[in-house]
Amino acid sequence: MFGPGSIVGILGGGQLGKMLAVAASRLGLEVHIYAPEPDAIARSVAKFNTVAAYDDAASLTAFAKVCDVVTYEFENVPAQTAAIAGENSALRPGALALEVAQDRLTEKTFLRDKAGVPVIGFKDVKSVFDLKRAGKEFGWPIILKTRRFGYDGKGQVKVDSEAGAQAAFDSLSGDLIAEAFAPFAREVSIVAARGLSGDFAAYPLIENLHRNHILHTSTCPTHSDKGVAKDMAKSIMDALDYVGVMATEFFQMDDGSLIINEIAPRVHNSGHLTQNAGCTDQFEQHIRAICGRPLGGAVPAHITQMTNLIGDDVAGLPALEADPAANIHLYGKGAPRPGRKMGHVNRIIKD
Ligand SMILES: Nc1ncnc2c1ncn2[C@@H]1O[C@H](COP(=O)(O)OP(=O)(O)O)[C@@H](O)[C@H]1O
Ligand SMILES: [Mg+2]
Repeated sequence: MFGPGSIVGILGGGQLGKMLAVAASRLGLEVHIYAPEPDAIARSVAKFNTVAAYDDAASLTAFAKVCDVVTYEFENVPAQTAAIAGENSALRPGALALEVAQDRLTEKTFLRDKAGVPVIGFKDVKSVFDLKRAGKEFGWPIILKTRRFGYDGKGQVKVDSEAGAQAAFDSLSGDLIAEAFAPFAREVSIVAARGLSGDFAAYPLIENLHRNHILHTSTCPTHSDKGVAKDMAKSIMDALDYVGVMATEFFQMDDGSLIINEIAPRVHNSGHLTQNAGCTDQFEQHIRAICGRPLGGAVPAHITQMTNLIGDDVAGLPALEADPAANIHLYGKGAPRPGRKMGHVNRIIKD
């Protein structure tokens, strides 16, 4: 169990790392940021900083040795980086969560076969022939995605018919996966924590609205699903022997049934609303879990809504500052760029 004075290492220095660092600091812990960017925004709230590449074995080893526990704020931590961190410190969540979440084919196969949860129909695509076969089997449209490095809808195309298969295949590079199209009524997520001894705490179901494939608003709690989503998240986290906070994204159908889209082995944008929901927020919850401490309460006191501030949305700051209901969180990034997450606003919408 790590407490005040212990050092939490974070791989990555973006807004998630920054908010994790603030939460750790609130608990009396010290933070060490490891990232290649000298000006990573999380550095401003960390006592210790390493500027080095993720494949710099000597720097990684030195970093991990001085940290009591190492965690990460992004899922594309290279396997070798995770291995070195794990050999020289406690790596939480572990390497398996990274391996599974980094590759959509590995992920969906693991979720279906090891965690026993429902996933959308999928097929490994090595050729246009495979893609056309997926269309015949699942019906068109098909969503064709790169297996690795996709985010905010990047690295995926909708293929409406067999006639569009060749162009879609040619438009993406790297290993590919085809998915059946989910005719969902809404998108929802579960943000949950699992502690060192397998203890589990999930926030209620969160409803997510996207704009231009980027998360726009999240609201929690939303439509009841009778706890099914939480049970699925728990099955996944148990199968991964997970320690920390993890997000599970679902497609919810008209009849209320749920299909898992993907998991994120980290704190998640849809969980930012927990910062003002009147319970332990996801960042503190993650720090508690990885430090082997008891999990905090995950029952919100209010219905809370988060709205992302993307690109020029930050121009609306004066109006937000004049709004007493707006809890403003800015990340301290430089100039706004289209699609860049600059901050978010949390509002209690009902007590
Ligand atoms: N199989 C699918 N059927 C329908 N919509 C999908 C499917 N896969 C992805 N989408 C839509 O695209 C969005 C982004 O896809 P996702 O797989 O979550 O990738 P990312 O890593 O970019 O978040 C989803 O939130 C959903 O709106
Ligand atoms: Mg997603």
